[in-house]
Amino acid sequence: MEYSSGDGASQTNLALIGAGVMGEAIASALLSKGACDPRHLSVSDVRDYRLDALGQQLGVNTCSSNREAVAGASVILLAVKPQAMDTVLSDISDAIGSDQLVISVAAGIDTEWIERRLLPGARVVRAMPNTPGIIGMGITAISPGKHATEQDVSVTEGLFRCMGEVVQVDETLMDAVTGLSGSGPAYCFMFIESLAEAGVLNGLPRDVALKLACWTAMGAAALVKDSGDHPAVLKSRVTSPAGTTAAGLAVLERMGFRAAVIDAVTSAASRSKQLSSQDT
Ligand SMILES: NC(=O)c1ccc[n+]([C@@H]2O[C@H](COP(=O)([O-])OP(=O)(O)OC[C@H]3O[C@@H](n4cnc5c(N)ncnc54)[C@H](OP(=O)(O)O)[C@@H]3O)[C@@H](O)[C@H]2O)c1
Repeated sequence: MEYSSGDGASQTNLALIGAGVMGEAIASALLSKGACDPRHLSVSDVRDYRLDALGQQLGVNTCSSNREAVAGASVILLAVKPQAMDTVLSDISDAIGSDQLVISVAAGIDTEWIERRLLPGARVVRAMPNTPGIIGMGITAISPGKHATEQDVSVTEGLFRCMGEVVQVDETLMDAVTGLSGSGPAYCFMFIESLAEAGVLNGLPRDVALKLACWTAMGAAALVKDSGDHPAVLKSRVTSPAGTTAAGLAVLERMGFRAAVIDAVTSAASRSKQLSSQDT
């Protein structure tokens, strides 16, 4: 694939290994933003039907082996499950040189683990995107490995900008990122589902309740983002003394809503750390 960083200056061939949920999301985002030409995107996967689907839907090149996909690619994106990373890296390790950038989205696999399986000096960047990236509303945290250059970081940033926002963090914080923004969409889906169910309980038609819940969550998030105000300030602005919102918030506090969210993120972060400490 031909990839443009967005400034129109750099054009790079790209290989994508793993045509699953995240691989498809990344490829679709790049193509829909016009950041690359599908004829220059080479995709490989062990499942032929996934390759056929991506080939037909997106017009990308499909490859019968991972080695074929990486040949001639300047950027190699690894989007397989963590358990498949060892196999993929042993497939391609001797086919990757220091002129190629390797980007991994595998949860819990650190850059050092990947570097150890590649030739010395391998340039690796780790990324943790999330699923709202499918519609360009995601956020991706990135961390460069030992040999990755400033240019590698900006190429990775440009790539994931097609899926939304990008932040750079120290790699030691990747478990916290996984617990918050990686797993976070699921928490938000549960919250929206709960709001909608509560609406139904209070007599609203199901479709109306879901629409109200969805737009409420989306609007509140957009207000936090666009106003720059702290959520606590925005919350206090809509909470009148002895009003309806104060009554609702008091229940959430009493039921431990805040503590439950904090524990959820902390527990997911611990699980990520635990997974990464296992020799995958
Ligand atoms: N989904 C998310 O929300 C999300 C968010 C952030 C990061 N990630 C990361 O993204 C990565 C991919 O996740 P996913 O949800 O997209 O997984 P997925 O849907 O299972 O996609 C991975 C694809 O890679 C294929 N594969 C397995 N072994 C392979 C090999 N040796 N060579 C080439 N292809 C191979 C899989 O085939 P099989 O099905 O036969 O194994 C599957 O089609 C994971 O490491 C995950 O941690 C995912």
